[in-house]
Amino acid sequence: MTSSSAPTRETWGGRTAFIIAAISSAVGLGNIWRFPGVAYENGGGAFLVPYIIALFTAGLPMLFLDYAMGHRYRASAPLTFRRMRKSFEPLGWWQVGICFVIAAYYAAVIAWAVAYSLYAITQAWGDDAVGFFLHKHLQTADQPGFTLSFAPAAFIPMLFIWVLTIAALALGIRRGIDRVNKITLPLLAITFLSIVIYSLFLPGAIDGLNAFFTPSWEALADPQVWIAAYGHIFFSFSVAFGIMLTYSSYLRRKSDLTGSGLVVAFSNTSFEIIAGIGVFATLGFLASNQGTSIGELENIQGVGLAFMTYPTLLSQMPGGVVVGVLFFVSLVLAGFSSLLSILQVIAAAVQDKTGWTSRRTGIAVGVAVAIPSLLIFATTSGFYALDVIDSFINNIGVVGSAVVSLILVGIVARKTPELAAHINAVSSFKVGRLWQVMIVAVTPAILAVILVTGTLSYIRSGYGGLPTWFVLVAGWGTLAVLLIASFAASYGKYRRPGADVIPQEDSLALAAEVDHDRQEILTSKARKETRS
Ligand code: ALA
Repeated sequence: MTSSSAPTRETWGGRTAFIIAAISSAVGLGNIWRFPGVAYENGGGAFLVPYIIALFTAGLPMLFLDYAMGHRYRASAPLTFRRMRKSFEPLGWWQVGICFVIAAYYAAVIAWAVAYSLYAITQAWGDDAVGFFLHKHLQTADQPGFTLSFAPAAFIPMLFIWVLTIAALALGIRRGIDRVNKITLPLLAITFLSIVIYSLFLPGAIDGLNAFFTPSWEALADPQVWIAAYGHIFFSFSVAFGIMLTYSSYLRRKSDLTGSGLVVAFSNTSFEIIAGIGVFATLGFLASNQGTSIGELENIQGVGLAFMTYPTLLSQMPGGVVVGVLFFVSLVLAGFSSLLSILQVIAAAVQDKTGWTSRRTGIAVGVAVAIPSLLIFATTSGFYALDVIDSFINNIGVVGSAVVSLILVGIVARKTPELAAHINAVSSFKVGRLWQVMIVAVTPAILAVILVTGTLSYIRSGYGGLPTWFVLVAGWGTLAVLLIASFAASYGKYRRPGADVIPQEDSLALAAEVDHDRQEILTSKARKETRS
């Protein structure tokens, strides 16, 4: 009945703080920068159907699994997997490694957005937004490779972002992350919603919306569309690479897991669709201005959409200066709180292993990620590396992590019934057999097909027409280093007090406690009503 986790472990201020944190993590660059580009690339309206199917068959089941594991075992990803079974620990470090890599390039994209918030004031890109981004801002080298020559316009804002990030991390969960979230989330809602509403009134907006919402049933036969949908849902939900697991480990013992999960999922998806509406409406405007159709526009894909196409249309749009500043500030706000959540996965793991204070851990982790982040992504070769690494780490690293964790938790350790009982003991929305069937059979089967197909396509066709040696080093090399590091980090003792004590939790007793609490609340409410 009792939980014997270490007394020093931090908790969120309450359920609201957790929900705000989880939404702030989920709503990030993925929603504004990645989703509209991926949707466009995969046929616009064609994408929404697989996206929604991926949400129900992988996003939501995995979200509940992450919450259940973090909350049941009350630890960072490596210690959670270790507490489940000692031999599972490397999987937790694999997730930490993924966060290390994603954080390193995520900070670079936020820093581009910081610079673009300023460029937008004068529309510094002139009439060549593509050339400006690649050659003036990033000073991209002609050939992919690795250099140590820094691009100042990329380096300086990145340094600024890293200093802020390290300060917030060092302050810990309540004084750092919680405070940042409470500032960035409302501001983001205001800035971003105002530009989406504005975009709906632009000439041609309706054609953009038609392109976004008209389903194209033939595209459903294309496996690439499905891979993209599943690949994106994990990134967007912050699941399967440790974030939601770590965040739920800071929840109090009696916390409604699925109720919060549904609020987070609904908010994230709504934000993503709203971002899609805003971006497609503005693309409709651009197409009508250029006398072409939406499908014919160029450079619309991930990176290109936000930093190449969007500036082009800002120059042509009435009110483009204000809209531009608000758009890039929105990217910074959305990205910063997500970056903190990604880094907290690493900080929690290091803190569990070393027993350091959150301040010391925050500084050490921040500096350790900032150095390679600047060395790789603030240089003139950074753009190529970012492109390859983002693709490999998400489509193979994260999807691989999801498949392996489902196999280990559901099939090898057979923990699904116990985790379902744990969820149901504390949550308002109960998970039934359907969730267990998803975790043990449906989701791993779908993801395994996607992982194998995706990996084969990388092996056969390389990536993005880039030289094989470069893809080998940046893509496969990153994954190989992570794999070795995951096993290496699993050696050694945990120094966090009580780390080796697995929290004992009897779900029946926990459910009875929760029921008793609810009953008390109802009784005291009834008493108050009778009195008044
Ligand atoms: N979930 C975060 C995003 O969408 C990582 O950017």
